[in-house]
Amino acid sequence: MPLVNTKEMFRKAYEGGYAIGAFNVNNMEIIQGITEGAKMENAPVILQVSAGARKYAKHVYLMKMIEAALADTDLPIAVHLDHGPDFETCKSCIDGGFTSVMIDGSHYSFEENIALTKKVVDYAHDRGVTVEAELGRLAGVEDDVKVSAEDSSYTRPDEVEEFATRTGCDSLAIAIGTSHGAFKFTGEPHLRFDILEEVQKRLPGFPIVLHGASSVIPEYVDMINQFGGSMPGAQGVPENMLRQAAGMAVCKINIDSDLRLAFTALIRKHLVEHPDHFDPRQYLGDARTALRDMVRHKIVHVLGCNGKA
Ligand code: G3H
Ligand code: 13P
Ligand code: ZN
Repeated sequence: MPLVNTKEMFRKAYEGGYAIGAFNVNNMEIIQGITEGAKMENAPVILQVSAGARKYAKHVYLMKMIEAALADTDLPIAVHLDHGPDFETCKSCIDGGFTSVMIDGSHYSFEENIALTKKVVDYAHDRGVTVEAELGRLAGVEDDVKVSAEDSSYTRPDEVEEFATRTGCDSLAIAIGTSHGAFKFTGEPHLRFDILEEVQKRLPGFPIVLHGASSVIPEYVDMINQFGGSMPGAQGVPENMLRQAAGMAVCKINIDSDLRLAFTALIRKHLVEHPDHFDPRQYLGDARTALRDMVRHKIVHVLGCNGKA
């Protein structure tokens, strides 16, 4: 099967009360771990590539490896640009074979965000590519940009209908209290489900996206701390909250930090336990297996998209 855009995936996910996992990819082991996990659970999957990932691994390498994963698994796979910063980056990804892009105009004014998103939508839709936009601003770190809690802002439900209608975007990322990275809450985790409910009421049937949705699984944070790392205070979104969101209008849940933590924890553990090892296949193999199992866990226990390929 060829790469797919997110249209059909989201339609089924909305109707079925589950969400699709959007996992960030940066290298071969990560692509293999995600797609092997998805294959084992027979789940559709979104592989998302940030501007930083494109810079690190190069577009052509990522694309060829994703094509290999597609041939190897025969799953519905969408290749998505994560946090597209401008029209040119979106265009370059669309021209280079991505099936979905995000244009992140969340830091612009409402009108500027609409104008930029609409420009990307017009280009993308002519080429069969779906577009995710963002309204409201998450805190946390993306690439080299750090958004402080004070500069973050919840999505305003009274803006979503006008935004979706005027831009023609296919899905909308909203800010309800999640944030990027491994340090999401200082006190009790809290998400604004009232905002999600209100957005869902105003945009019935419209796919919503949740960024910053790693749970920062304590097992891996502990492993990192046990094997020479230091991550005090790391905290993520509780899985029951994500499951609740997946049963509502949320059709895409973005997970990067949990993969990074599992991958890094196993590399640290391997190298500490085997100080004589220097074959990358040994420690990267352990890391890939942990990442695969993390993806399986998310698919079955958080997203509910197992068996939906
Ligand atoms: O939201 C950002 C993702 O975690 C990607 O991170 O920009 O460092 O690749 P990155
Ligand atoms: P996490 O940092 O919570 O994994 O979020 C990733 C994300 O939103 C990518 O766009
Ligand atoms: Zn994000």
